Amino acid sequence: MLTVEWKDNSVVLVDQTKLPSKLVYVKCKDYSEVAEAIKKLVVRGAPAIGVTAAFGLALAAHASKARTQHELMTDLHTAFKVLQATRPTAINLFWALDRVMGKAKRAKSAQEVKRVVLDEALKMFDEDISVNRQMGTIGAKLFKDGDIVLTHCNAGSLATVGYGTALGVIRAAKESGKRLSVIATETRPVMQGSRLTAFELKHDGIDVSLIPDTAVGYMMSRGVIRRVIVGADRVLRTGHVFNKIGTYQVAVLANKHKVPFYVAAPLSTFDFESSPGEVVIEERSVDEVVKVGKRRVVPKGVRVFNPAFDMTPPELITGIITEHGVLTPPFEKKLKTLLG
Ligand code: MRU
Repeated sequence: MLTVEWKDNSVVLVDQTKLPSKLVYVKCKDYSEVAEAIKKLVVRGAPAIGVTAAFGLALAAHASKARTQHELMTDLHTAFKVLQATRPTAINLFWALDRVMGKAKRAKSAQEVKRVVLDEALKMFDEDISVNRQMGTIGAKLFKDGDIVLTHCNAGSLATVGYGTALGVIRAAKESGKRLSVIATETRPVMQGSRLTAFELKHDGIDVSLIPDTAVGYMMSRGVIRRVIVGADRVLRTGHVFNKIGTYQVAVLANKHKVPFYVAAPLSTFDFESSPGEVVIEERSVDEVVKVGKRRVVPKGVRVFNPAFDMTPPELITGIITEHGVLTPPFEKKLKTLLG
C-alpha cells in the first residue's frame, strides 16, 4: 500500500482521516487541493508530507499557463508559499519544497523547469522507501527476539511513502526472523495510534495491542515493555527530537523505568540550524479535543489548548536510527563523525 503516488498527472493519497473504517483514495488535481489535504491530515507524518508537497509543486508546474521561464518561476513560487504554510513543525515539508525549488532555479528553460520539478519529486518518492529500508536494516539489530516494543503515534507506511521509519525498523526486525510484539498508544486527540498504527500492523500480520496513552506508566512499571521506538517530525543537531504530543511523557517514563528509547528518523528530518526555542509547535483546532467523534465531551466555555507536538531532550534518548547508522549520545559530536 502506497500512501502517496503520482498518477496521470495527479497526486493520489490514502485518505487517512477515513481510516480504519474505510480505505479510500483521494485524487488531488492541483496544488491547492494538495495543500488542503496536508492541512486536514488526509496525508500526515513528516516524510509523507514532504513527498506530497513536492508533488504539489509538480502539479503547479504542470498546470501553469506561463509563457516564459520567469512567469513559470513566479507561479511555482506562489505554490511554494501556499504549500509551505500548511503545517509548521515537520521539517520534511520545508526540506522537500526547498530541494525541488533549488532544482527548478537551476534549470535553463521553462520546459526544463517542468521536467526537473517532477523528476525531483519522483526521486524523493523512490528515496523515501529505500531510506526507510536502510534504517530498518540498521535499526533491526537493536531488537531482540521476543521483545515487546512500545510505539507512539504513527511512524509507519502511512506516515511515509511506504515501509515506515519506526515501524519500518519493526518490520525489518520481523523480516530478519525476530518475533516482536508491538504496543501502540492511542495517541489522543487524533488517534494516529489506534486508527493508523494498529490498522497497518494488523494488516501486515504483526502482533499489535492497543493501550490508552495514560497506561504507558503502568505498563512500564510492570516491566512489560522492553523497548520504545518512535519517529520524528524534526531532529536538531543537538539531538532534541520533536514528535507527536505525548512523546516526551513516554520518554520520561522510559527513562524512569530504564527502558531504551529509540527514535528512527531519516536525515531529511534533521534541522541543522534551529535551536530548540526556535521550532514552531503546531497548535491545532480545539475541536480535535472538545469532540470525540461527533459528540462534545467538554463543557462549553472551558478553555482548551491543543499542541500537536512536543520536544524530547537528548538526555532521554538512547539512540537515533538514521539511514547512515545509529547516533548515540553525545549526538552533536556523533552526527559530525557520522556525516564526515
Ligand atoms: O500530526 P501528524 O500525524 O502528522 O504527526 C505525525 C508524527 O508525529 C509522527 O510520529 C512523525 O511524523 C514521524 S513519521 C515517520
